[in-house]
Amino acid sequence: MRVVEEVSPSGEEAPTQGDRKAEHIRLALSDQMQLGANFFDRLRFPHCALPELDLDEIDLSLEFLGKPMQAPLLISCMTGGTERAAQINRNLATAAERSGVAFGVGSQRKALEDPDAEASFEVRSVAPTAPLLANLGAVQLNYGCGPEECRRVVEMIDADALVFHLNPLQEAIQPEGQTNFAGLLAKMAKVVEALEVPVIAKEIGCGVTAEVAESLARIGIRIIDTAGLGGTSWARIEARRASDPDIGDLFADWGIPTPDSIRQLAAVPGVSVIGSGGIRNGIDVAKALALGSDVVGMAYPFLEAATRSAEAVEATIARAVRELKICMLCLGARNLSELRAVALVGD
Ligand code: FNR
Repeated sequence: MRVVEEVSPSGEEAPTQGDRKAEHIRLALSDQMQLGANFFDRLRFPHCALPELDLDEIDLSLEFLGKPMQAPLLISCMTGGTERAAQINRNLATAAERSGVAFGVGSQRKALEDPDAEASFEVRSVAPTAPLLANLGAVQLNYGCGPEECRRVVEMIDADALVFHLNPLQEAIQPEGQTNFAGLLAKMAKVVEALEVPVIAKEIGCGVTAEVAESLARIGIRIIDTAGLGGTSWARIEARRASDPDIGDLFADWGIPTPDSIRQLAAVPGVSVIGSGGIRNGIDVAKALALGSDVVGMAYPFLEAATRSAEAVEATIARAVRELKICMLCLGARNLSELRAVALVGD
């Protein structure tokens, strides 16, 4: 792979990827990097006072990527590449395995350029049965990556799928961003053809429209993660790194609110939907499922816990599961398909 030297316009050396990953974690932990508006709050469930159901009967099990899961939750792709990131990934993966949910590592670009970084992504030993997702920016296909590199990141972690993140706003604001997004669909199609595992596409906080999802589905990308507007703001994070907070505030609410994006993707035939972006509790999870998600992802809610321990991440998952089950009891929904049939009000 061609390693792109990152040099800032002033000629100074740009931050290394290790610096960048460390800064992303540090900044993302601050609640100032959250949008601060929850679009799910506009939607309400029709409470059922007579559910005719025992809470203990509620069944959240499902299959994802050919593997059984105990709850429809994904710990969204976040990090890797530094010592701290390695510990975070191990804590997240351990908790995912114990709780029966799915887990994605952060962008593995650094590991392609520096084999020493590989270990920070390798979590299969602590998550032998969990669905595991590899991750790369789709834009990397214009900066030296091809099907071979994509296969390497999948094999590196024995992943069940490869996630391509689509992040034009982040790259455009990022001081050292890679901004050539031209011709990516055709290159992604080659990767889909070459890999033995499914390819998933996700945004990182701006959402995906039905139109984009249709284009992706046509090339064989049939699992799409909204990563919509409503949670972590990458405009704010990168603007802070660029010492230009004004542009971060200007673009902080750019994108498709997650509930809208879920609805759009759920209407695209043949597409499985991961609903994510600003999901903050079990009620949001329930709403995302009722709107048409198959699986629901969260990043920020797990990050702080992952800096502490696997047990703290497990407790965060257990809390969301409990809240989801309470919603389902109060809707009379005994399983995920019954929850999906519930119509939300107020939209
Ligand atoms: C992310 N996210 C992310 N996504 C991705 O596909 N590859 C990546 O490397 C990263 N890196 C990353 C680092 C950190 C610290 C965070 C918090 C997030 C984006 C993430 O997967 C998710 O799409 C967004 O954060 C929106 O979800 P939340 O945070 O609102 O739940």
